[in-house]
Parts: sequence; structure tokens; C-alpha cells
Amino acid sequence: MNKQFYLTTAIDYVNGQPHLGHAYEKIITDVMARANRSLGRTVFFLTGNDEHGQKVQQAAMAEGKTPQHYCDKLAVIWKAFAEKLNLSNNDYVRTTEPRHKQVVQAILAKLHREDHFYKASYHGFYSTKEETFLTEKDRRPDGTFDPMFGEVIELTEDNYYFKLQRHQAWLIEYIERNPDFIFPDYRRNEVLGFLKNNVLEDLCITRPASRLNWGIPLPFDPEFVTYVWFDALSNYITIPAACGDPAICGPLEIPIPDGAPRLSLWPADAQVIGKDILKFHAVFWPIMLKAMGIELPRQIVVHGWWQKDGQKMSKSVGNVVDPIQVIQEWGVDAFRYYVVRELAVGPDGNWTDAGFRSRYQAELANGLGNLVNRSLSMLTRYRQGLVPARSDELAADAARAVQDTRQHLEQFGLQAALLSIGGLITRANQYVDQTAPFKLAKDPAQSERLDQVLYNLVEVCRILAILLNPFLPDTSIKMYQQLGLGEVPADFQRAAWGGMTAAHRIGTPTPLFPRKDLESPKRA
Ligand code: MSP
Repeated sequence: MNKQFYLTTAIDYVNGQPHLGHAYEKIITDVMARANRSLGRTVFFLTGNDEHGQKVQQAAMAEGKTPQHYCDKLAVIWKAFAEKLNLSNNDYVRTTEPRHKQVVQAILAKLHREDHFYKASYHGFYSTKEETFLTEKDRRPDGTFDPMFGEVIELTEDNYYFKLQRHQAWLIEYIERNPDFIFPDYRRNEVLGFLKNNVLEDLCITRPASRLNWGIPLPFDPEFVTYVWFDALSNYITIPAACGDPAICGPLEIPIPDGAPRLSLWPADAQVIGKDILKFHAVFWPIMLKAMGIELPRQIVVHGWWQKDGQKMSKSVGNVVDPIQVIQEWGVDAFRYYVVRELAVGPDGNWTDAGFRSRYQAELANGLGNLVNRSLSMLTRYRQGLVPARSDELAADAARAVQDTRQHLEQFGLQAALLSIGGLITRANQYVDQTAPFKLAKDPAQSERLDQVLYNLVEVCRILAILLNPFLPDTSIKMYQQLGLGEVPADFQRAAWGGMTAAHRIGTPTPLFPRKDLESPKRA
């Protein structure tokens, strides 16, 4: 059983509105999933929804629904969202599924047996909105709590705690010894700074069922349900467990489920998250795994946050970018392209409608679209769509783009990969301008030169289809079809120069990214 390349995203709160931020995280992970498949690896890509907790319980009640019914309805919207983004996920986890809940209970039972928990009474200030006890640090100078915490109530409560503190020194050492564990660097430094300057408080991992019952009951004390984060983080291993992964089922001492496909997934190769949930993934999660006796993921990849026009996106301001609307107007590949091209994985980004339109026009319509369309149209017009004999004039440029793209993709350099690919597009468009095939076509003495130019152009288009496949899957398939190539362009090895054979007949050229008249207002 070969270990698959396992990629995960955070699981989205089911009661939130799918927006640009969620779409971004899923798209960059999807690009990585497709790229790794193209590079010859078997990939398992997991995404899903986080469905327990007080907010869901309250929202369901407000709608007069059971929480399960409420989640079932919303999960349909989230799954449709994943499809609209053209994700190639292999599974979709929902934390209310029996396969997840059973494994979470096995984890809790094991950690309880092995003395990682204790029960204690706690008196303090509790934020119902954030579902967490607040500490003195959360107070403002005047003693009040920030309105972002919503209603804050004073509570005395029994709960179970997870002994985190005893693992603090180990975690610092682990992160220092494994510099790639948290990517990018500045996020690793942030975590190390936090761990070195604070004493980790033990983590409260329950809520009394009397106050919150929309959660997974503790197998050893049904008066309590599990804290949502403990439940949610576990998804990354509950699905491998349900697939019969021995790296999880073994340490948790659970039988391989009947009929499980027996996949080998864990450890995850990359777990992609946003910067706001770094502490959960780089502190709590590794300690949970260590306590379970399970290996740590190879890498936590932390992306930045998107704003719109320099402001935080929020429903009340009314500036939330709705990916579905953008996709309906411009197509899914234009959306995927913009979010990956605009922003490297790490820093924050800023969406502007003008920026989106200008990239569409300059890089997709005039750049890629124009290159493919004029190359294939000239081949159709001047050579009846038949590929001439091989010529290697652009071979070195293509080889460089292929090598750079591969290197960037191996290191989460998605934006850098698109820049390398963009370099090849620009080079090929310049080549058309420099060689002027429309002039060569008028002079029968230049027939051989025209053959050479046309071969170079059509071969660059073929290679571009392969390089772009992880980013623009639909466009890349269209390119292959227009090139008259049957299979799907999802094998990086085929990006070697010379794949187009002489006398091959291409298909019909059709514009990939129709130019939009950006100046004139939309007509009704
Ligand atoms: N349910 C938790 C995650 C549990 S993972 C075990 C959660 N959900 S969320 O719906 O609020 O966020 C899901 C992901 O979307 C997070 O990684 C978060 O950082 C990301 N984003 C939410 N808004 C974002 C932006 N504006 N920009 C970029 N990503 C953002 O947290």
C-alpha cells in the first residue's frame, strides 16, 4: 500500500456564507492537488464542513429546525460551492457524519484512558459568540470586553481539560528542528515567539451538554460534549481512519472498518489554512497528535487573508466578494486564475473589481487567449490545420518554463509558477510579432520559415495546456481539444518539447476568453 499525497483545507463553518476567502483556500489546495497528480503522485484531497457548536444550534433553533436538518440543508450549498470552483477533492467530510463522530469518540476514549485529561471547575467570563472563556488579556483598559466577543456572561462550570503544558518544550524543539513544518517562515517565527513567551494553558475540551448539546458526547461522561475545535481538527485523521489507514487505526487501536478501501494517507503532506487559525493548527493540533501517538503532518501551509478594496469583507459593509457571481459572469477559470496570480501563498491580498478585469483582459484574453487563437487560426488558414515538421526555436524557452514551473509547484510557489508560465506566453506572443507569419504567408519563398514558426507556436500551445492544467483545468482541456489531442493534459512529463507530430490535424480554434468591452456600461 503506497502512501498517497494527502492534502487538506480547513473545514468551513457550515452556517457561514461561502465567500472569496473560503474559495481561495480551496482553489490553492486544488491547484496543488492537480499539480501533484500531474507530477505523477496519487493524491487524496480532503475538504468539508465544520457543523457542531453553539452558533449552529442557535441558528437552527431560530429557523425552527433541528440542528441536523439545518446542517443538511446548508451542506448542500457548500458542496455545490466546491463543485462550482471545480475542485478535484477525493472526499468531503462533514463533522456530523457517523464515520467522523465514531473516530472522535475513539480518540477521546484513548486520551482519557491514558490520562491526558482532568476534570476541574472553572469560574470566569464566557463569550457566547466565541464559545470560549475569556481571560484577563481579553479585557480592555476600562475592564470591559471588546464587542467582538458578543454577550459575555459570568459562569462557574465543570469541564474536562487537556494537559497541554507538558508538551510545550517538545513542541518548541520540534518546530525548531523541522523548519519546513510551518510555511511561510514568518508564520513559523510567530508560533515560536508565542510558545517561547507564554506558558501554555491547559485546553478546555468540553462543554456541558446542559448548555450545549449540539456536539459529540464524551464516551466516558455523557454530561459533556466535545469542544468544537477538538472535534473539527480531528477531521484530518477521522477520514483516513474511515478509509482504513493503518497510520491512524493502529495508534488509536480501532479496527479497520468493514469495506474500507484501506488507503495509506497519513501523515498529511500539506494542511492548508488561513492565518487566523494558526494557533489551533500549529499548537493544539500537533500536541493532540503527539498525545495520540500519531505522526505530525509534514507541513502546515498558512495563507493570508483577502480584503475587498482595502477593507475587511463583511456582510454589514456589503463588500463581500461572491465567487459564484464572478464565476457566472467571467467563468471559473478566470476566477481561479485571478486569485492565484494576484497573491502568493502567505501575504494578505486585496480584491478590486478593476484589478480583476484588467488581469482578465491583459493576461487571459490578450495574453493566453490571443496566442492560442492566432496560432491555431494561422495553422488552419495556411496549412489546413496540419502540423508541420518539428522545429526547435522556442524549445529552450519552453524547457525553462517547464522546469521553473515544476520547481515552484514543489514549494507552494503557485503565483511564481503562473509568472513562469506567463513568461512563456509573452515570449510566444513576441515571437509572432517578430516573425510576422501573416507576412511570411504571402511569400511562397518563405514557406519553410512559415512551417517552422507555425510548429513552434502550436507546440508552445500544447505545452502551455499541460502547465496550466492545475490552474485552469477547463481551459486546458479546451486547448487540448482545439489542438486535436484526445487525452486530458494532466501529465507533466508530456511537457517535453516535440510532442506535436508532423501531419497531426488540429481541431477548430475558438476564443478561450472572449474580450469584454470594458469601457461601455452594460446594456440592459
Ligand atoms: N471551522 C473553522 C476551521 C476548522 S479546521 C479544523 C473555521 N472555519 S471558517 O469558515 O471560518 O474559515 C475557513 C477557512 O477560510 C479558514 O482557513 C480561514 O482562514 C479562511 N478564510 C475565511 N475568511 C478569509 C478571508 N477573508 N481571506 C482568506 N481566507 C479566509 O475557521
